[in-house]
Amino acid sequence: MFKLELDRVTKRYPARGMHRGSILSVDQVSLQIHQNQSIALVGESGSGKTTIARLVTRLERPSSGLIRVNQQRLEDHSGLPRLVQMIFQDPFSSLNPHYPIGYSLERPAELLHRISRREAAARAAEALTLVGLTPAENYLDKHAHQLSGGQRQRVNIARALVARPQLIVADEPTSMLDVSVGLGILNLLLDLKERSEISYLFITHNLAAARYVSERIVVLYRGIVVEDGPSFDVINHPLHPYTQLLVESTPDAHKALPRITVPDAQEMVGASDAGCPFRARCPHRRAQCEEPVALQQREKREVRCVLYDH
Ligand SMILES: Nc1ncnc2c1ncn2[C@@H]1O[C@H](COP(=O)(O)OP(=O)(O)OP(=O)(O)O)[C@@H](O)[C@H]1O
Ligand SMILES: [Mg+2]
Repeated sequence: MFKLELDRVTKRYPARGMHRGSILSVDQVSLQIHQNQSIALVGESGSGKTTIARLVTRLERPSSGLIRVNQQRLEDHSGLPRLVQMIFQDPFSSLNPHYPIGYSLERPAELLHRISRREAAARAAEALTLVGLTPAENYLDKHAHQLSGGQRQRVNIARALVARPQLIVADEPTSMLDVSVGLGILNLLLDLKERSEISYLFITHNLAAARYVSERIVVLYRGIVVEDGPSFDVINHPLHPYTQLLVESTPDAHKALPRITVPDAQEMVGASDAGCPFRARCPHRRAQCEEPVALQQREKREVRCVLYDH
């Protein structure tokens, strides 16, 4: 059974310039992530979320405290690059623009699992299919700039999946995407979690997204955990005043995000004479949506949707 533990982990950075001493970025943070569990880290900018992600993925070392994976110290764990994968905020900067998508997916599979080119190619195609980029052959030869932001983030998730990880650390994976595309990514993460035993450390500013994706929410303030609990309780009965402030300043925190299947924009159909262009992604989709829909006048507004076609 997979388990990740942070035991009083602290990270200090040396202060720069005229300042003496050090910046305490993460201060005695303890938390646990179990198999198939999703933990959300929330907190304002500078609260230490990314630092924790970098510690867990071994991009940084703690100044003190212990991180354990499956009872083993993180630094002793040779299989870590396979077990723990990261998805970054900016899907563009994390893909090499010079290589086709297929190469970006096959290479880590080859290196991490020491498998043949052919096996790696099969695994890349399988991962693209899992993230909804189908048929996979249409994407393998493309470069990052030929994809939409949502598709690029799906490729990043696919790249994490080729390693067959037990934990995915996702640092603000939807904050650079528009709302519906971001919701598609959140739904994809949930689907993957339901289908496999994967765990998430999900980092976000957005409490509604935290509740949607994670069973537990850990609230950080200036590197310190100020609250940690089941997502529903933390949002509906926040105890710490900072959490209360966070909840009050997030009007959508109580609102459940719709659990709809939102295929990404690759299915976009254009011309208005071919039916509604949004129909592939619409939760209200019905047969009439396949037909051209006239622009309806509604009081002072106009809308082109069968829901208003009376
Ligand atoms: N390499 C570094 N050197 C010095 N200070 C750093 C370094 N990385 C982070 N810090 C400091 O540590 C603190 C926490 O930063 P971190 O990036 O973890 O915050 P965050 O919660 O991810 O913020 P954001 O929401 O803006 O991404 C900040 O004060 C930051 O300036
Ligand atoms: Mg950050």
